[in-house]
Amino acid sequence: MNPLVEVRGAVKRYPGVTALGGVSLQIRSGEVVAIIGENGAGKSTLMKILGGLVLPDEGEILVDGKPTIIDSVNKATALGIALIHQELNTLDNIDVAGNVFLGREPSRFGLMDRARMRSEASALLERLGLPISVDTPLDKLSLAQKQMVEIAKALSQNAGVLIMDEPTSSLTLSETDQLLRIVKDLRERGVGIAYISHRLGEVTQIADRVVALRDGKNAGDLAKDEITHDNMVRLMVGRDLDRIHLPAADSIGADRLIVRKLRTQRYPDCEVSFEVKAGEIFCLAGLVGAGRSEVVQTVFGTDPALGGDVTLDGVTVALGRPKAAIASGICLVPEDRRSVGLIVDWSVKTNMTLPGLAKYARGGLIDGKAEAEAAAAESTALGVKTPTIEAAVANLSGGNQQKVVVGKWMLQDPKVLIMDEPTRGVDVGAKAEIYELMRRLTSAGVAILMVSSDMEEVLGVSDRVAVMHEGSITGVLDNKDCSEEGIMRLAVGKGS
Ligand SMILES: Nc1ncnc2c1ncn2[C@@H]1O[C@H](COP(=O)(O)OP(=O)(O)OP(=O)(O)O)[C@@H](O)[C@H]1O
Ligand SMILES: [Mg+2]
Repeated sequence: MNPLVEVRGAVKRYPGVTALGGVSLQIRSGEVVAIIGENGAGKSTLMKILGGLVLPDEGEILVDGKPTIIDSVNKATALGIALIHQELNTLDNIDVAGNVFLGREPSRFGLMDRARMRSEASALLERLGLPISVDTPLDKLSLAQKQMVEIAKALSQNAGVLIMDEPTSSLTLSETDQLLRIVKDLRERGVGIAYISHRLGEVTQIADRVVALRDGKNAGDLAKDEITHDNMVRLMVGRDLDRIHLPAADSIGADRLIVRKLRTQRYPDCEVSFEVKAGEIFCLAGLVGAGRSEVVQTVFGTDPALGGDVTLDGVTVALGRPKAAIASGICLVPEDRRSVGLIVDWSVKTNMTLPGLAKYARGGLIDGKAEAEAAAAESTALGVKTPTIEAAVANLSGGNQQKVVVGKWMLQDPKVLIMDEPTRGVDVGAKAEIYELMRRLTSAGVAILMVSSDMEEVLGVSDRVAVMHEGSITGVLDNKDCSEEGIMRLAVGKGS
């Protein structure tokens, strides 16, 4: 039987980079092919070729054995290929139902059939276990919920080939489980699935075959019984790499950031109190919707506080004013890099140095050389893969964009660094680099407040973990008392 789709020798060049240097891939009916590789290896580019978003410079695509040119998204849709994007493509001012059927609105007598859209969209949301109304505008949803809407949109196309580019990067354990169940169900119905993820545990659970890319080339395949964490890392990185193992904090000092009775807009009736000590990595864990991002955004001032107070080294921080927070030494690496973290049309350098531009001022002028040196050093330290630091951030791969956001705030010499999903979409090697930088900052006395949905990260990196459930902290655990089960119990509100 022919593969559903096959790519032969795809080449795609961009100025200064060869994104794909002759990659081949087959996707068969009823299999989940995981595509793995470091940030910038070419995974998304390969998927965009199948989705009709990028035309290869060389190479061939066969659909059901026949050479085919996929030169538009409509063409891909007509061929039964659906793509879930890595960077979400939802429209914020339209509701859930509208987003699910965007561009394919069902009609009746020439009019948009709103009732059918609503009922089909709500059936899909139910299947995904997403308890929201289809009339909710997207800007009221969290990043994870938007990601689920994007997934519902792809499912609504009933495609024969489903491409999922990091579908779980913002999801926590229970939503990920739900998604993996759906993937298995689709596989049973004969759908061919290409699944990209940096979460190797997930890949081990779901993949029938692994295809690894390295620097735009095929780096090797793994059959089902060869899929292990270590084998995958070896193919991606080209060498062995230790699992996350961060040394414990060497010296934890006094309370640096104290949050008392903070009330957020999302959960106005809940009060949240905690403190983060100098030299400590303090993590907020919990399910999507538990209110973790709202808490850190309220501390930082991008969300209004309904009550409570925050002090840094004993000095009160004005709430509701990010500028005041930054001036007092609090920085935030946001969860949603596209909308609040980066100006994607600007260069890597400018994105990294902008918030602290004053540091490079000499007699009223910006010292361009000092600015470039600082950005280049940070970009090298984080291993940002870019032809030059003058390249636009929009052209970087997803994981490399994330490194730029992290680098930007690390350059600010913060006293308190808040990181919301700091390694979303970042590959294993670069994760280790970010963790080491975090530890280096805490060794210098910085207090780090992290929100993370990645269980390996929560367990491997945090000195203490506070678990949230529906707006309240249900328990705080020391690293040595942490376990996945213990955190999950608190996350569903059961107490320890
Ligand atoms: N439109 C573009 N213009 C210039 N360069 C690009 C463009 N799109 C991708 N690239 C480059 O091609 C390479 C491959 O990028 P791609 O997005 O496919 O990587 P990826 O494997 O998906 O990485 P990640 O895990 O970070 O998402 C990167 O070096 C990237 O900077
Ligand atoms: Mg990608």
